[in-house]
Amino acid sequence: MNKAEYLKAIGIETWQPRDAECRVVEQPVICTDTPKIKHIIAVEDDTWASLQAQAEACHACDLAQTRNHVVFGVGNQQADLLIVGEAPGVNEDKQGELFVGRAGQLLNNMLLSIGLQREQIYIANVLKCHPPSGRDPQAEELSSCVPFLERQIALLQPKIILILGRAAHVLLETTEALESMRGKEYHYQNIPLLVSYHPAYLLRSPKEKRKSQQDLLMLKKYL
Ligand code: URA
Repeated sequence: MNKAEYLKAIGIETWQPRDAECRVVEQPVICTDTPKIKHIIAVEDDTWASLQAQAEACHACDLAQTRNHVVFGVGNQQADLLIVGEAPGVNEDKQGELFVGRAGQLLNNMLLSIGLQREQIYIANVLKCHPPSGRDPQAEELSSCVPFLERQIALLQPKIILILGRAAHVLLETTEALESMRGKEYHYQNIPLLVSYHPAYLLRSPKEKRKSQQDLLMLKKYL
């Protein structure tokens, strides 16, 4: 498939610009008021394997009672790009894998539209266990789980983090509308971080896909 076909696959019709050189992706606004790491997780030896083992044995909140799998994270541990989602859904909980199903397929096509294979990146969720019936995560669940993501970021040291949907509110500790968080460069552990829409939201609101594509083009500049 070529780029136009990938864009079509994610629901964006393309047209031929009269002057391709004139298409400029805006620069992000740099934000300096971003949170410090507050949660420290004790790790015996600081490796992916020990962190994953710790997550898989975690009983810090009630989600441990209802989960089928701890959905730790997946991908290339040398990746330049980390994508952060919210929480495993029913299918992710069943399969122990992130972003399966329609939202996952859309995410794959979004990545392909900027020339990235899923295998080249790392993907993790803020919450590692599925909240029953897809309910919103509770504060206690988030505060137990965010330290795992913090350690994943510290181990990975990506060039750029793309955070999808409401996961941005958790990590950046804000309730600002996602729309106004787009196009800004935040920092987390001194790593640049961009915010965009979650593919599940894009499936419900396909007209926002064009904005999501702008966000991906901005992201591509960091890689
Ligand atoms: N949505 C997410 O944010 N993460 C997943 O793993 C699946 C759906």
